[in-house]
Amino acid sequence: MRSVLLTRRIPSTVLTRLQGATDLDLYDGPGPIDRDELKRRIAGKRALICLLTDRIDASVLESAPDLAIVANVAVGYDNIDVPGLKARGVIVTNTPDVLTEATAELTWALILAVARRIGEGERLVRRGEWRGWALDFMLGMELRGKQLGILGRGRIGKAVAARAAAFGMTAVFAKHDMSLDELLVSSDVVSIHMPGTPETRHMINRRALARMKRSAVLVNTARGSIVDEDALVWALNERLIAGAALDVFEQEPVVHPGLLPLENVVLVPHLGSATRETRTAMADLAVSNVLSVLDGGPPLTPV
Ligand code: DGY
Repeated sequence: MRSVLLTRRIPSTVLTRLQGATDLDLYDGPGPIDRDELKRRIAGKRALICLLTDRIDASVLESAPDLAIVANVAVGYDNIDVPGLKARGVIVTNTPDVLTEATAELTWALILAVARRIGEGERLVRRGEWRGWALDFMLGMELRGKQLGILGRGRIGKAVAARAAAFGMTAVFAKHDMSLDELLVSSDVVSIHMPGTPETRHMINRRALARMKRSAVLVNTARGSIVDEDALVWALNERLIAGAALDVFEQEPVVHPGLLPLENVVLVPHLGSATRETRTAMADLAVSNVLSVLDGGPPLTPV
């Protein structure tokens, strides 16, 4: 039995691998699969390939007693009740490594964007409000000589740090080079690269934001749950920090209304891994995990 439910169309080169080797049920709707639809279609399946927008818990599995593997097309797996699935003997896999560079690149795009006021400048030009070059116009923060404080010393955090020297920045890691508190107090850019877990939830809260330099910026390309968005809106309005750049949000795709009018905030829609190369590699890795398990082999990247 090689029945697979795939909750979203994936690049055709990768899809072909599944079509040839499995009995594939592809959900091809316009948005994320509805929960009832997911529960209905997973019935009798051996494998599920899902996205971070699909919440997979034990209740989803009730109609799929033969499910062997849930392959998440993401490195993060906070959408999956891993202990609950493992207790039922279901293997869970994610997509590490293949998205590291793309996410590090987007992080640097956001650091540069918030430091150099790219979004604000672009909006101004589009509104037709640019009155010409001026010596003191729209000044930002130069990165050279500044400290980049990184929360999370995993693959992505290290890849972000590896690019710091190119901009003349010194990268430091919380807990490794200094305490979180020391890092918050001394960094000019604070960038988050941790998984979204109960332990990291609201790690960046009012207290943490108040510890940051008034000239510093916060960047989050990890998980929205790590930053208390109410606290962030408060800190930005009180000018306790200079700006923020966010790729991830607490209630995606909803963005805290307090962030929307702020010029010193860069907001992008969870694009960390969104390159053609990386998204294809992520889908390919998820498919490889599924095919290996269906063939009786081990998962390649188990959680
Ligand atoms: C992940 O993989 O966890 C990213 O957030 C999306 O690519």
